[in-house]
Amino acid sequence: MSVKEYINKNKSRFLDELFELLKIPSVSADQKFKKEVDKAAEYLVNQFNNLDLDNVEKIKTDGHPIVYAEKILKDSIPTILVYGHYDVQPADPYELWETPPFEPNIRNNKIYARGACDDKGQMYMHLKAYETLKQLGQINFNIKFMIEGEEECGSDNLEKFVVKNKEKLEADVIVISDTSIINNDNPSITVGLRGLSYMEVELTGPNRDLHSGTYGGAVNNPINELCKIISSLKTKEGKIKIPGFYDKIKNHSKEKRKKINKAPFDLTEFKSHIDIGEIYGEKGFTTTERIGIRPTLDVNGIWGGYTNEGSKTVLPSKAYAKISMRLVPDQSSKEISKLFSNYLKKICPKSCAIKIKEHHGGEPVVVNTDTLGYKAAFLAFQEIWGKNPVPTYDGGSIPIVALFKKELGLDSILMGFGLDEDAIHSPNESFGLFNFYKGIETITSFYKNYSK
Ligand code: BES
Ligand code: MN
Ligand code: MN
Repeated sequence: MSVKEYINKNKSRFLDELFELLKIPSVSADQKFKKEVDKAAEYLVNQFNNLDLDNVEKIKTDGHPIVYAEKILKDSIPTILVYGHYDVQPADPYELWETPPFEPNIRNNKIYARGACDDKGQMYMHLKAYETLKQLGQINFNIKFMIEGEEECGSDNLEKFVVKNKEKLEADVIVISDTSIINNDNPSITVGLRGLSYMEVELTGPNRDLHSGTYGGAVNNPINELCKIISSLKTKEGKIKIPGFYDKIKNHSKEKRKKINKAPFDLTEFKSHIDIGEIYGEKGFTTTERIGIRPTLDVNGIWGGYTNEGSKTVLPSKAYAKISMRLVPDQSSKEISKLFSNYLKKICPKSCAIKIKEHHGGEPVVVNTDTLGYKAAFLAFQEIWGKNPVPTYDGGSIPIVALFKKELGLDSILMGFGLDEDAIHSPNESFGLFNFYKGIETITSFYKNYSK
């Protein structure tokens, strides 16, 4: 039987199994879901046991568990380490979902559920690819699975685990399906990910909310001030004004930029998918470059004062904002966070007090394409999709990838199958059935090519 035939024969069971996992609301950011996160880990333990893997473990951490499993056949064949995550982003706002986020269902040939694409659906493809080759007697590699439950909140405990378990995690390559392709006619392999600095700013004016009439005009309003500070962080041309922010960024040659811009991009489609009238971004760069190889500074949330029904005349005591910066080589998350803090403290007037907190961060990634792993992935797309995959720079971040390189000395192959329209982190997240099954097939081809 061929791989294709096996997948086709077991199609509906593969989907049923994934649905069981999607039904578990494993939201890692919210302690309310702690039990559910654990349940998802248990589910994977069972699935790994069903695959007859060895050393299947649910490893406790200070946060959510890591699930590990392996099959080591012999020393003389390559070892592939699969990384993925079973935790998901919060599903809020629930009322915007057409069907409930944890009741997976199929519409328009897509699976709709939180985690369908990011990353339960994509991670699960690896289990099914392994099963397929195992049942067909085509396994000629050792495999290690490491699936974590804290990717969506920073991977802090996985980081500690990796540092302490270098021997256990010894491998020849890491493969991750947690990114996207351009579209189903233009498969691609991710060769770059952005890093991240994530900051929270708290501005305090008076020591209590004041009557905005008796005090208004004579006391600085921290919300007004925070808005001023934020709007002064960028120029009209979209440049970030924090001193030193661009200092470490590597220049791309003309040829390199030309190559990056060869990736198919449809501006009309880009705009219509998200209903915007016009694009916006740093002057002198294309949309592809703005997303892939340029840094950002964005407010993710801003709050303070009175926001309930009706009006309340108040001059607030506090104002808050969460601000993220996406980073590119060779910016360092720690350094950028420091530059941000110093600059904001400097420009904040004495009429307000400022506090800045740093959340999780991560370093940017560039994949070396001159490796056996990349070649195996390239050939897999060629074989299964009938097209050469385009190398792309994704705008998102997977902070643990840089750590894998630093601590384990291993390159990661970023072989994702999602689409931008899958709406990861948004209501109505989806994952195409075509992508799910095609992805499984492509992964089997990667495993085989890599072990050849
Ligand atoms: N899978 C995404 C990252 C991603 C998505 C990369 C699409 C490329 C294309 C991952 O789960 C994610 O959401 N990462 C977070 C970072 C994390 C520290 C919260 C991100 O990029 O915001
Ligand atoms: Mn993900
Ligand atoms: Mn995510």
